[in-house]
Amino acid sequence: MAAPQGYDLIVQRLIPGYASLARLAVALLSTSPLASLPGAAVLVAGCGTGAELVEARSQRPDWQLSAIDPSAEMLDVAKARLGGEGIGWQQTTVEAMGVSDRFAGALSVLVLQSLPDDGTKLAFLTALARSLRPGGQLVLVDLMAPERSPLLGQVEAAWLGFQRASGLEASEAELAPFTQGLYPIGEARLAALVEAAGFGDPARIFQALNYEGFLLQRRA
Ligand SMILES: C[S@@+](CC[C@H](N)C(=O)[O-])C[C@H]1O[C@@H](n2cnc3c(N)ncnc32)[C@H](O)[C@@H]1O
Repeated sequence: MAAPQGYDLIVQRLIPGYASLARLAVALLSTSPLASLPGAAVLVAGCGTGAELVEARSQRPDWQLSAIDPSAEMLDVAKARLGGEGIGWQQTTVEAMGVSDRFAGALSVLVLQSLPDDGTKLAFLTALARSLRPGGQLVLVDLMAPERSPLLGQVEAAWLGFQRASGLEASEAELAPFTQGLYPIGEARLAALVEAAGFGDPARIFQALNYEGFLLQRRA
């Protein structure tokens, strides 16, 4: 995904709770058995424009941060925001990173949703699990496929109402990276994928409409 104009503003007006997500994700990881330790190595996978990095710097200035993203445009925006120093920047995917047993914790916000469920999601999650030390934790946040419900139409209408009330005035082209080419999966499928990737059962830590967050721990 190239860094679209106004990424941060659009995402805040599109996703209920987005403004608190990075804060919550960092606070959660901060309490984990391994990442609570001073100077813990933490991976921000798919750092985008750097929202999680800003929050990590603020809450845990002691963390050794690695930030990866395959998009040069996104990395440039994040570097300009955070400054180049003190963070290990890498233009790559999690799958290509080739790191094992290194990180005490990892954050992956709004990344898995853009990967097809044809082995690509599993490869991403497996690489994330492998990059963690045994017992390391991952905070994963993504758009999920909704459960079937006769009230689904109302939920979708409410999402549009939220966007209007937030003042979202983006064109279809500007919104496309956020609403098209996404592959949301249901909870049962996510549970199967994370199990196959090497994580224990996910604990839900966030939900706003169909955006959900989970805390996962690499099996020992
Ligand atoms: C919607 S943005 C989210 C950025 C940021 N985490 C946030 O919440 O604002 C998704 C990011 O994931 C990156 N990405 C896509 N596939 C990836 C992969 N396989 N490994 C790491 N990052 C990936 C994209 O380049 C993009 O910057």
